[in-house]
Amino acid sequence: MIMSHKKPNCGSTSGLAHALAARLLQDKNYTLSGAFPRHSDTDSDRFGYFGGTLATARTIPTRLILQHRILQPPLPTSPPWPDSKTRTSLAQPSVHPADIIVVLELGTPGVSGHPSTAHGGVLASCFDETMHKAVAAHLVDTRHVAKPYTARLDIRYRQPVQVPGLLIIRAKVVARTGRKFWVRAVASQQRDDAKETPTTDAMALFLGVGDSISSRL
Ligand SMILES: CC(C)(COP(=O)(O)OP(=O)(O)OC[C@H]1O[C@@H](n2cnc3c(N)ncnc32)[C@H](O)[C@@H]1OP(=O)(O)O)[C@@H](O)C(=O)NCCC(=O)NCCS
Repeated sequence: MIMSHKKPNCGSTSGLAHALAARLLQDKNYTLSGAFPRHSDTDSDRFGYFGGTLATARTIPTRLILQHRILQPPLPTSPPWPDSKTRTSLAQPSVHPADIIVVLELGTPGVSGHPSTAHGGVLASCFDETMHKAVAAHLVDTRHVAKPYTARLDIRYRQPVQVPGLLIIRAKVVARTGRKFWVRAVASQQRDDAKETPTTDAMALFLGVGDSISSRL
């Protein structure tokens, strides 16, 4: 696994993207947190897809996870599901400040669908993993023993994600009632104009599943 404070090794990704990753790593509100586990043959099948199949040295060689030092308590009522017509930056509930920020280096041709464009299914997996991390962080924060399962994931692909390139995904648990967690996430890339451009955004519902339920699955 690549978890380091050093500048990620990003192959041909742009200097601007490097600068953005470096800036995120220096943000004192966030701490490097955990890792996307690499799957090994001695493991059970847990983490097999993302850690063993999807994220390899040829596909997603760099994956950094940053967690906000102070997680904001989620709202205690179900939130509105964002309207697909509203611009990502204006859509509510907001993803800011994000609970989790993930920096992914996407390689090509490993994750390409169309030329120089990340495959939508890969992006869905990256969102799912990142949002899962946000829920897991809240579960730990509230000392709640449960495993987050994705019940619903709604993704809006607004602009192609360019590969090779760095993708930043910000995720926030915006509401929670009991074992239901609503999570917002926005992915962005730094383009030539030096501004972060939102490419993709998502809303998801996760359910915390206790051991008595997960052992039946
Ligand atoms: C998600 C899952 C665990 C929920 O099962 P469960 O724990 O038995 O939950 P219930 O069916 O009792 O539903 C609990 C609540 O969540 C809601 N809910 C459950 N699944 C939902 C879904 N897919 N979308 C929206 N709401 C859902 C129910 O409506 C219910 O709401 P209420 O309390 O307001 O009535 C189960 O459907 C499941 O295992 N799905 C597959 C998950 C999965 O494999 N995800 C990919 C890998 S993580």
